[in-house]
Formats: sequence, structure tokens, C-alpha cells
Amino acid sequence: MTQHFLRLSDFSPTELHTIIQRGIELKQQQQGNIAHETCKRKTLAMIFELSSTRTRVSFEAGMAQLGGHSLFLSPRDTQLGRGEPIGDTARVLAKMVDIVMIRAADQGTIDEYARYSSIPVINGMSNELHPCQLLADVMTIIEIHGKIEDLQVAFVGDGYNMCNSFIEASRVFNFDLRIATPKGYEPKPQFLQCATRTQLVASPNEAVAGADVVVTDVWSSMGHEDQTERKQAFETFQISTEVLDRAKPNVVLLHCLPAHRGEEVDEYVLDDPRSAVWEESGNRLHAQKALLEFLLN
Ligand code: CP
Repeated sequence: MTQHFLRLSDFSPTELHTIIQRGIELKQQQQGNIAHETCKRKTLAMIFELSSTRTRVSFEAGMAQLGGHSLFLSPRDTQLGRGEPIGDTARVLAKMVDIVMIRAADQGTIDEYARYSSIPVINGMSNELHPCQLLADVMTIIEIHGKIEDLQVAFVGDGYNMCNSFIEASRVFNFDLRIATPKGYEPKPQFLQCATRTQLVASPNEAVAGADVVVTDVWSSMGHEDQTERKQAFETFQISTEVLDRAKPNVVLLHCLPAHRGEEVDEYVLDDPRSAVWEESGNRLHAQKALLEFLLN
């Protein structure tokens, strides 16, 4: 059976730890100018229904660094945008490339693509999940705290794709997750019902108190930008340096980016010494190189 990476639970905890440790190793080796060609003669097709900076560049650069090649496919410039069924595209690309990454507005599109694909498919983000971001986030936490197990993680913001992936991660990596969202923006029951170490709390302060890691995300994800009522609902859910002060002194602040200063974060907190967001975004490259190696070899 073809191994896909559509959600964290597609891999065992051991496999996920192996990939993250390999990501850390690949990062150190790259810093030491040690090159690898573990994906030589392999081609990655990247389908982006939605915009991207980090996901596109990290996969494209990662594939090049591993000796492989990548193709950027926008529905606007392919037959996908003219109604060719996703299953037909999946079967055709499987004859031509070795692995596919797809970012789609609807998780159902990615799941359907994978059903028809005889080559590995990676979820590059959907409305429900962002598992590649979680690889980089967990890698960053392990680099800084030395472990992930039993840490206290706070998620403050929209109960959307990043929040759902953190719920998945808390189960797989055994950490405690406290989630603070405005009323009406909680994660969907389908994600909460399989949560084992997740607690919904009433306020950002409650979530952040004593936390080892604080995570936030934009108030309006792609596709929700024009919803002005969101801004009112999220008004008191901003992470500022003062909010971060309620966490442990060695807390790590994560944000998958892009960030909206003045909304989910204040003007300063991303540049606070407790923020690891730049390291986190760089770790997309290393964690995904490890993922590509794992799925291709
Ligand atoms: N965090 C993230 O996925 O960034 P992009 O949307 O730029 O890919």
C-alpha cells in the first residue's frame, strides 16, 4: 500500500520521531556543508490551490538540496483549473513523477487525490490540517526544550487547521494542550473527540499560564479574510509580550506565519527573545527534507 502523509496519524509515533531526528541531523549537516543526494533523479510535483511562500520554497529548495527536482503546478495553469477530475490528474502524475505535495482549500480534495495516487502524497495544508508545519514545530520544540513529551503547550486563536493539527500532535507526541478560542471558533468535534490530552479553556491567560510553548495563528485563515466579525471576536486573543510573561520564563513562542502584527500578535512579540518563529520557519526545510527522504526511500 502506498504510504501517504495526509495527517500526523498516518505515521506511527516512532516514524514521526525518526523523521524529526533526521531533520535535526540534516540541518546540522547542511550547516556543516555536508551534501546529500538521497533524492537523486526523483521528481516532486507540487499542486497549490492556495498561495504559499514557506511551503513552496521549503519543498522546492529541499528537493534541490537532496539532488532531486520539483515542479510547481497551479490550477490556474493546468487542466485542474479547467475541471479535469482530481483522480485523473493523480493517476496521470503517478506515471510521470515520484511524489506529490498538494495544498487545497478542502481536505476532501487531498484525500480524494491520495485515493487515486499510487505514489506518496503529502498534505501541504488544507482547511483541516497542516501536518508538515507540525513536523517543523515539534522539531523546533525538541531543539529548544530537548523534548516534547509532557510539555504544556498553549494554543491561542482560531480552532482551525493549525489548532486541529496540534490536537493530533498532542495525542501522538504526548504533550498537554490547552486551547483558547473565542466562542464559536472552537475546533470541530471530529478533532476534539479523539483528543486525549487536550483541554478547552476560557481565556488566553488561562491557556498561557505556566506554558512551555505558546502557539498562535492568524485570526483569518485563507478564505476567511473578509469576515469583519472575526476581528471583534478575536480582539482579546492577541499574544503580546505581557501575555507571554504569564508562561514559563523559558517559554517558546511559535507561529506558522505569515503573521498579522496588530492582530494575533502585537508589534514586538515576534522579535522577543522567547520567539522562535524564524527558526521554526527555517525548520520547514529540514523537517520536510527528512519527510521526502522517508517517503521516497
Ligand atoms: N506556514 C505556511 O504554511 O506558510 P505558507 O502559507 O507561506 O506556505
